[in-house]
Amino acid sequence: MDKDKITISYLKEKKEKKQKITMLTAYEFGMASLLDKVGIDVILVGDSVGNVMLGYESTVSVTMDEMIHHAKAVSRGVSKAFVVGDMPFMSFNVSDTEAIKNAGRFLKESNCDAVKVEGGEEICNRVKAINNAGIPVLGHIGLTPQTVSKLSGYKVQGKNIQEAKYLLKSILALENAGCFGVVLECIPAKLSKILTESVSIPTIGIGSGRYCDGQVLVTQDLLGMTGQFKPKFVKQYVKLTDIMSKAISSYKKEVLEGIYPSNEYEFSIPEETLKEIMNVIKKG
Ligand code: KIV
Repeated sequence: MDKDKITISYLKEKKEKKQKITMLTAYEFGMASLLDKVGIDVILVGDSVGNVMLGYESTVSVTMDEMIHHAKAVSRGVSKAFVVGDMPFMSFNVSDTEAIKNAGRFLKESNCDAVKVEGGEEICNRVKAINNAGIPVLGHIGLTPQTVSKLSGYKVQGKNIQEAKYLLKSILALENAGCFGVVLECIPAKLSKILTESVSIPTIGIGSGRYCDGQVLVTQDLLGMTGQFKPKFVKQYVKLTDIMSKAISSYKKEVLEGIYPSNEYEFSIPEETLKEIMNVIKKG
């Protein structure tokens, strides 16, 4: 293991020292290398790959094979960051055996360091089974996109007593089941603070405010590479689609007008060699 490799104990230490944990998504080699070089602590191969890269309407369609394909590429680009593979819908829900088998694939085939599972107290036995097999598990509660239909849409979670109690019971149960951390998605900031202070494992927020121990975003969202829709919690640090469109339009224009490729982008051949070739052609 690289001596600078981010570990679970390092992430826990960060929480104890009140240092924020940084996490972002990556689905391929190039972006993963970039995040690793910048020094992002955790890289999530999210099942958001379904919406962002594969054009699916939701994450529900994403398969285990697709996740492994992307996770392999990500791992090849990372030397330092802690890499987490997202268990897609129904890859862990049916049985302990299947959950362990699929979680194992992430570590064996794609060199991930851990897996993430969506769900609250109801999936704790599954978390225990995966964890007992020696595979670290990151929990994910609040707005869980895989069960968006059951949640009746992409809504903030924990705004009433019943939901808030469920979230509190869930984070405690997930910690007890062995999760090394929990993602909190779309939970009001003050409730996330209570949840964060209730456990000794780090919480990583997405749309859950400033009090979480760390933050995660879909990288393409912060880079302004996704479509028109921008969730309230996403800060777009740049609008790459505008920059990319301009560059691609310039390329198109220059190709159509014969401006590109000009001299500087061409390879040359010695005049003598060229003459010889012409002679060969002429002679037939
Ligand atoms: O799939 C995903 O990208 C996630 C997030 C936490 C952003 O689950």
